[in-house]
Amino acid sequence: MNSLKLSGRHLLRIADLSTDEIMGLINTAERFLEISEREIKKVPTLRGKTVVNLFFEPSTRTRTSFEIAGKRLSADVINISVQASSVSKGETFKDTVLNIAAMRPDVIVVRHSSPGAALYASQIAGCSVINGGDGAHAHPTQALLDLMTIHMHKKRFENLKVSIVGDILHSRVARSDINALSRLKADITLCAPPTLLPKRSEVFGARVTHSIEEAVADADVIMMLRIQQERMAQGLFPSLREYAEYFCLTPKVMEKAKKDVIIMHPGPINRGVEISAEVADGPYSLILYQVTHGVAMRMAALYLLCVGEG
Ligand code: CP
Repeated sequence: MNSLKLSGRHLLRIADLSTDEIMGLINTAERFLEISEREIKKVPTLRGKTVVNLFFEPSTRTRTSFEIAGKRLSADVINISVQASSVSKGETFKDTVLNIAAMRPDVIVVRHSSPGAALYASQIAGCSVINGGDGAHAHPTQALLDLMTIHMHKKRFENLKVSIVGDILHSRVARSDINALSRLKADITLCAPPTLLPKRSEVFGARVTHSIEEAVADADVIMMLRIQQERMAQGLFPSLREYAEYFCLTPKVMEKAKKDVIIMHPGPINRGVEISAEVADGPYSLILYQVTHGVAMRMAALYLLCVGEG
């Protein structure tokens, strides 16, 4: 086995990983997938290690999959519910991290609405920190599980046509996916209303369109994103109904797609807004496979940060 040299490091953003490290994480996660198919879904690999999930924002997939991933590797996993913690009594983020760190965990997974929160935690925690999503900045394990899903179904990234459709401006998933896919030489198209696109400097030379039909035609991979109303300071489009009229992935729009296209979405999905129920539940959709892969990818991340071999 080649050492990926991730032991003791942090996982804060995709940009901190080399393409070899990205591929190493994908290969390790693909090997871990079968553990979740066993009757006894547990191996002793991280026995004696402690993982703390410190989530200041709601989460279904990321928090649960980190918990399941840690437990399947026999780590002790503790979930801190911020509502039930001393944050509700006014304790700061810094003091919360310092106090959790004083209990000597091996990994802290941080989700926070502020960009840079996980980086700050990594500077004071004295153990590995994984960014479970910080504002609109980065969500590296989501991008890694997205890449794993693409790799398992398309076997390559180079020249693969990937269209990312939706609220790209507020999406930490899109920023992380764009960074990784552009370095792996995928051919990226971004599709959104002009008000929901990031600055040119953030799109790494991706093609931009405002037509979902154009984005879908010829795409090998379609990644849909939800409208993140919780991060919008002002109305950036007239109404959800009008947004859906132009940007919802429906069976009619799918008539333009290739027959071997795959459809992805990081979740949570808003049926009838960015994706219709028929498409979300249809034959091209890998949305629930992404969730399954998320457990394996988080097993890979915990394993490589704690042990370091891929
Ligand atoms: N994709 C994702 O991050 O989902 P959660 O917000 O449920 O963790």
